[in-house]
Amino acid sequence: MKVTVVGAGAVGASCAEYIAIKNFASEVVLVDIKEGFAEGKAMDLMQTASLNGFDTKITGSTNDYSKTAGSDVAVITSGIPRKPGMTREELIGINAGIVKSVSENLIKESPNVIIIVVSNPMDTMTYLVHKATGLPKNRIIGMGGALDSARFKYRLSEALDCPASDVEGMVIGGHSDTGMVPLIEKAVRNSVPVSEFLSADRMAQVVEDTKVGGATLTKLLGTSAWYAPGAAVSELVRAIAQDAQKMFPCSAMLDGEYGLSDICIGVPCVLGKNGIEKIVEISLSDAEKAKLAESAEGVRNTNGDLSSVL
Ligand code: LAC
Repeated sequence: MKVTVVGAGAVGASCAEYIAIKNFASEVVLVDIKEGFAEGKAMDLMQTASLNGFDTKITGSTNDYSKTAGSDVAVITSGIPRKPGMTREELIGINAGIVKSVSENLIKESPNVIIIVVSNPMDTMTYLVHKATGLPKNRIIGMGGALDSARFKYRLSEALDCPASDVEGMVIGGHSDTGMVPLIEKAVRNSVPVSEFLSADRMAQVVEDTKVGGATLTKLLGTSAWYAPGAAVSELVRAIAQDAQKMFPCSAMLDGEYGLSDICIGVPCVLGKNGIEKIVEISLSDAEKAKLAESAEGVRNTNGDLSSVL
């Protein structure tokens, strides 16, 4: 499998690193607009190959998309990240133009590519890639829910004082501080509902901490996080590479599912060699349904700001 990662900043480089370390891809091409930057990151990463034991070949390119030709999967991380105090939505003005031109460049060289969108505001950028490229729905995937769910599991494990591998939980809805819907009623510790172990207040705290997971890190780091975003992308790419038929919450273009249409928002999706193999409609409680509907309103508002590029 050949994977292109556009944007060699912290998130892009972290994606490339985790994809290489997991050793399922033959090739990763890093692309960046800054002269020599992607080449430098690629070389640094390649110098870890003998230490970390991977065979994936990583190369870098300064904005030359011919190097990306024939990619099976492309990850778009380009654009600017959040600074402390900013919302993801505030990035739209700069990132929309960048994401649109990157997606057009990618499909010129790789007409069969599956695109994973990471740039923020992610649900709106995913919607933009759909409108700009016209690719089939299964081939455009927004990465947010896999990351938000990992942060949810971290917060659950903290509250339960157990390893994250002991818990399961999923976050659907928009990838924003107000739009995330952590499905706390469905979260379990080794198949036991977490409500058996946690008070209603503690569960509410887990939900709140999860929703501001990215903002908390932005405040601490001075910029947006990269390890967990990179790791989350690498798991989506691996599910496609290995035709794993694994379920992740991803931002997908909906056509009536969950009562929503013409919107990209986080819902459970099965991923395999065709990208989104299936959108899974799970039953939601009335409270969960109301939160998803409210989240969709927020995403639609942000989508309204795309008029200058579409
Ligand atoms: C975050 C960015 C990637 O949540 O949206 O860290």
